[in-house]
Amino acid sequence: MGYSDQALRSGAFWAEQARRIHWFRAPQTTLGKTASGSYNWFADGELNSCYLALDHQIEQGRGEQVALYYDSPVTDTRQAITFNALRERVARFAGALRGLGVEKGDTVLVYMPMIPEAAVAMLACARLGAVHSVVFGGFAPHEVAIRIDDARPKVILTASCGVEFDKLIAYKPLVDQAVAQARHKPQHTLVYQRPLLTAALDQPGDLDWEQAQQAALPAECVPVRGEDPLYILYTSGTTGQPKGIVRDNGGHAVALQFALTQVYGMQPGDVWWGASDIGWVVGHSFIVYGPLMGGCSSVFFEGKPVRTPDAGTYWRVIADYGVNSMFCAPTAFRAIRKEDPEGQLAQRYDLSSLRWIFVAGEKLDSATYGWLTELLQVPVIDHWWQTETGWPMTAPLMGQPDPAPPRLGSTNKPLPGYDICVLDGEGHELPAGEGGHICVRLPLPPGVAWGIWNDDERFASAYLQDFPGYYHTGDGGYRDEEGYVYITGRTDDVINVAGHRLSTGEMEEVVSAHPAVAECAVIGVNEPLKGQVPVGLVVIKAGEAIEPAQLEAELVQRVREQVGPLACFRRAVVVQRLPKTRSGKILRATLRKIAAAERYKVPSTIDDASILGEISDILVSAGFAAAPLPG
Ligand code: COA
Ligand code: AMP
Repeated sequence: MGYSDQALRSGAFWAEQARRIHWFRAPQTTLGKTASGSYNWFADGELNSCYLALDHQIEQGRGEQVALYYDSPVTDTRQAITFNALRERVARFAGALRGLGVEKGDTVLVYMPMIPEAAVAMLACARLGAVHSVVFGGFAPHEVAIRIDDARPKVILTASCGVEFDKLIAYKPLVDQAVAQARHKPQHTLVYQRPLLTAALDQPGDLDWEQAQQAALPAECVPVRGEDPLYILYTSGTTGQPKGIVRDNGGHAVALQFALTQVYGMQPGDVWWGASDIGWVVGHSFIVYGPLMGGCSSVFFEGKPVRTPDAGTYWRVIADYGVNSMFCAPTAFRAIRKEDPEGQLAQRYDLSSLRWIFVAGEKLDSATYGWLTELLQVPVIDHWWQTETGWPMTAPLMGQPDPAPPRLGSTNKPLPGYDICVLDGEGHELPAGEGGHICVRLPLPPGVAWGIWNDDERFASAYLQDFPGYYHTGDGGYRDEEGYVYITGRTDDVINVAGHRLSTGEMEEVVSAHPAVAECAVIGVNEPLKGQVPVGLVVIKAGEAIEPAQLEAELVQRVREQVGPLACFRRAVVVQRLPKTRSGKILRATLRKIAAAERYKVPSTIDDASILGEISDILVSAGFAAAPLPG
């Protein structure tokens, strides 16, 4: 790596990075401490994230360069939107929002499919200094309602529908249900009417997206402080209440500029593709803000890796736009490989523009890694980060002359600013090769979240209290002698389903609310395509006569309706009892290990150890991976 350890930890290093972005007023401070005991950076600088993404690029002469390549195989649409055109759309839409009373500091909820208007919505909020909260389209109304009550948006932005393969998902009725369920009532819902489906605008405050802009004057960028929030992004924790991760403007902009150029190795004019969705952190950092702030053209893709129309879609997109590098979840490549194991579809396209591919979001299995490397003949780079961090924690520096080479099974080495340690349960640092809790020694670098919306105490209790002096990532793993980091999986009740982060605790709340259920545990089991899927282990109340198949169907429906289809909760298995400690706590950590077919130690606190064998047998007979013997 090109940076010395001392440089990486010093404020001077980040002050130097901060000079690479355009401030309206340069920050006088670097690192500061927040009320929650966390850290912020560049609190007193003044900037605007939309300005950096659009106006500044235009001032640098990139007005006629393509900012977004919208590619939608599901609607057979392609658009190349220049920085000039995007700014015009964003400024006008920001004017419309202002006309509806949206001002600096107000919150706006965005529930939209992958259409350019979604990027317009986010950037327009940023332009006004308003705080957007994007909710992924696969979440059910109940989940949207929870977010409405927490973020209390003045306005909701949505579209008439999304498209999932050949299925139209009508978004507006979902938003209506969410608003009906929520205690907080937004003043307006703006609906972008897609040609595929026209939504009824029949609720109080409903407005048509285009009409709302007709008389609007373009809005200029509102300066905000570095510490002011840019967005809230809800992510799954261990309970039914998701955590509203708050991202600031200043540290975020500095971190993204660093990550885009130094980690991903992108330069202005390059074509970048973040193959994700604006509903996830990747969509915020590396579909919208990062690439645009770095002067790249960003591919905005509405489709799936397969069946839209075939498993060659990703290769077609790379060839059509001359993609230089991309980010993707391994699941997508597993889906492509399943359909096209020989990679024949890739042979049809010129993929020579591609320098390397980054993957993250879930474990990269060696088979997918090998297949992809062989097929593309470019480096396939596993790296690791989270919603909370907003940018990678471990990765090679592809923008430097000597990046650390990928190492199978590892997500590479810590990046500048992340002093990563592996700790045992008591907080002692573990030597190389020993597995434990992966933590980051404080302070955290710029860009990492410094709070939870409305709940700073939860930020401290979720991340800072278990291991004083460290940020607790919730991931387990180890480091090797040369400092490469290996992520083995979550150590809490979070699972990753097709690269989507979900809380099993949240699903447990839904399952246990069923009148026939005495108690339950939801665990993630290994699945070849999606990595993990949730399975409910359910104890039926004494005297209940419901058939297990009937109960399963009802529970599946309930989770679908209350969490959303993206949870992929399709199995609920009836068990006689659950393993517990003598004080009555369900032994979830042990269940997780059994489900992941990992070796487990029989906990000394267990009430009756024979239950573990029973559960293991039930999982095996229900078709899930066999668990090894304890040891
Ligand atoms: N809006 C509405 N519904 C959505 C949705 C959205 N944005 N995204 C997913 N869903 C629904 C799907 O339609 C599906 O519903 P169904 O049960 O009625 O079929 C359900 O949620 C599960 O979706 P998914 O897990 O995506 O399964 P799939 O079979 O549709 O696709 C893959 C499988 C592997 C192709 C797909 O998951 C994929 O492309 N994964 C890559 C993930 C990714 O990019 N993650 C980014 C993380 S950084
Ligand atoms: P999210 O907040 O949705 O981005 O999910 C973050 C979580 O995904 C992490 O805490 C990890 O559990 C998992 N994750 C992310 N990247 C990787 C990776 N490269 N390998 C293994 N797990 C990963």
